[in-house]
Amino acid sequence: MNSMIGNMMAAATVVCMLGGCSSNSRLESPDGRISVIFERDDKGVPFYSVTVDDVLLISPSRLGIVAADGSIPGADVQKVIMSQCSFDNTWEQPWGENKRVRNHYNEMSVELRGGESASIIRFRAFDDGIAFRYEWDLADVDSVVVMDELTEFNFAQPGMSWSIPGSYETYELKYRELPIKDVADANTPFTFRTDNGVFGSVHEAALYDYPEMTLRRDSTGVLKADLAPMPDGVKAYVPKLFVTPWRTIQIGDKAVDLINSAMILNLNEPSRIADTSWIKPQKYVGIWWGMHLGTQTWISGTRHGATTENAIKYIDFAYDNNLQGVLFEGWNEGWENWGGNQHFDYMKAYADFDIDSIARYAAEKDVELWMHNETGGNIPEYEEALDSAFSYYSSLGVHTVKTGYAGGFKGGYYHHSQYGVKHYQKVVETAAKYQIMLDVHEPIKETGIRRTWPNMMTREGARGMEWNAWSEGNDAGYLCTLPFVRLLSGPMDYTPGIFDIDYSRAKADKGRIEWNGPNAHCCIKTTIARQIANWVIIYSPLQMAADMIENYNGHDAFRFFRDFDADCDWSEALQGEIGKYVVIARRAGEKYFLGAGTNEEGRTLKQPLGFLKQGVRYEAMIYADVPGSINPEDIGIERRVVAPTDTLDIIMNPSGGQAVTFIPLE
Ligand code: NOJ
Ligand code: CA
Repeated sequence: MNSMIGNMMAAATVVCMLGGCSSNSRLESPDGRISVIFERDDKGVPFYSVTVDDVLLISPSRLGIVAADGSIPGADVQKVIMSQCSFDNTWEQPWGENKRVRNHYNEMSVELRGGESASIIRFRAFDDGIAFRYEWDLADVDSVVVMDELTEFNFAQPGMSWSIPGSYETYELKYRELPIKDVADANTPFTFRTDNGVFGSVHEAALYDYPEMTLRRDSTGVLKADLAPMPDGVKAYVPKLFVTPWRTIQIGDKAVDLINSAMILNLNEPSRIADTSWIKPQKYVGIWWGMHLGTQTWISGTRHGATTENAIKYIDFAYDNNLQGVLFEGWNEGWENWGGNQHFDYMKAYADFDIDSIARYAAEKDVELWMHNETGGNIPEYEEALDSAFSYYSSLGVHTVKTGYAGGFKGGYYHHSQYGVKHYQKVVETAAKYQIMLDVHEPIKETGIRRTWPNMMTREGARGMEWNAWSEGNDAGYLCTLPFVRLLSGPMDYTPGIFDIDYSRAKADKGRIEWNGPNAHCCIKTTIARQIANWVIIYSPLQMAADMIENYNGHDAFRFFRDFDADCDWSEALQGEIGKYVVIARRAGEKYFLGAGTNEEGRTLKQPLGFLKQGVRYEAMIYADVPGSINPEDIGIERRVVAPTDTLDIIMNPSGGQAVTFIPLE
């Protein structure tokens, strides 16, 4: 897609009116079902509340920021100016679940003026949720030292919630399904279902130059914003003219409405990258899984994974199988220091990885070479190396870098603190300069910045596939929760698609079964059909076939990944219940793909195919569990001709799934 189209904005409708100086006000979503009410108590303290269909969802909840020298808005507000606007446009992005996105909302700005200083609390109400942020322009100070944020989420209804614990360091944590009232702390997205049937998720949008927001129950029993601190306890150092990230609550009638909402993206600014022609979704394989199993090493030696010989094999495999990229981990010097003095050389390949000839070979085959930058948390060293490393990669024809931040940040900074947020952003902007796309592991969470920086393709930010290699792993219930929680924030590089389900054989072959404890773990906890379905369910514009290529070679089911197109135009979550099952369809060009998954319970779902183009018949290739089989590696592949008027019976074994490609016949 060229930059013109990438930035094209259909004519937006904007209607504004000043609401006078009332100190109470109500903002409604375009369909009138969701309202946000702003009010100040008799001391001038600002609060908001939210109703859905006139029933309270969020009871009056505190707003405000505590600065080192006072609060924002200040206590001396002399004038409140309200205004409301409506906005409606449809915009396009170079890639995404849906390339065309409608952005339709009503906005209320509450300007609180005191002397020369002004602060604004800006609210937006969409049909799929609400958002607000703080903006300030202060007269008497040079900068603001943020000590705390007072934002509360005071749930008016009892209900259930799904989240990971609040951590400033990692998102690689297990989900808890807890009554909302029992959540002591949580990270976002924080997904909930109230007993009166409202689905929702608390998160944030457009996180820049500010710490991430987690939630913590305060002494009054209310869930409140808890910002990741700096080592000195300060939450953020920001200029006197500033806007915070949006605080968001997605709202829907069904769990899948949350997946189908683009509100987080809509709250971000249009692309800052003018020419996006080099930004392309792709499918990739990599020298990766072997290191997690312990059958290969990052370090150069007898079991080194990233050797020239292996690189050529992987490039050939990508070429033969319609895949665009190959990742190499352990290509550069420094792995012997990992966890030690954290020094990596981002320019120097190990002697057995002949980078120039590999890059030449990849270019001849039109396969993209991915570089890997594990930082081990040494941010100063990485920032120092960034420009020269990215410029070097670009000279090799590289357009994608996978970064990694395993280990604590040097200097005691939290990954999710303002320091971390600024660092991750610096990498995004530097990468854009060198036309490099990013896949970030141990990242800051996605808050929709991919709209503004579309080279920020995908990230980890949850327990990915690697956990299956060296821990008790991720079960199918976890995989049925992920789409309704972590994936609401944006794409994930889960690295799906392991075919060698019982990998203890591979470990034993290499005499490595003792790795991470004697026979501690042997298996991926799903069927193969589910591994394939995850290529559709877990959206990532850079989608990996994570297994070693010897496990794909000659396997009939790998045809799915060959046929799959990561550059989708349209997506819809068709049905699902949090933690239980999910069915998602995507279209890329004229082809459709469907992925379905269940938790530990076997399940049959009926799925009408009305999402296919009317009047067209399709060849459907169905990759399904073998009913009743207890061998997770059993897979049935069936060809059928289907029409949009048909209904598919999706039969899934426990921890199973189903994947389907639909290719038009006419
Ligand atoms: C953790 C990442 O999630 C994984 O993908 C990578 O292989 C290792 N760190 C090493 O960088
Ligand atoms: Ca990780």
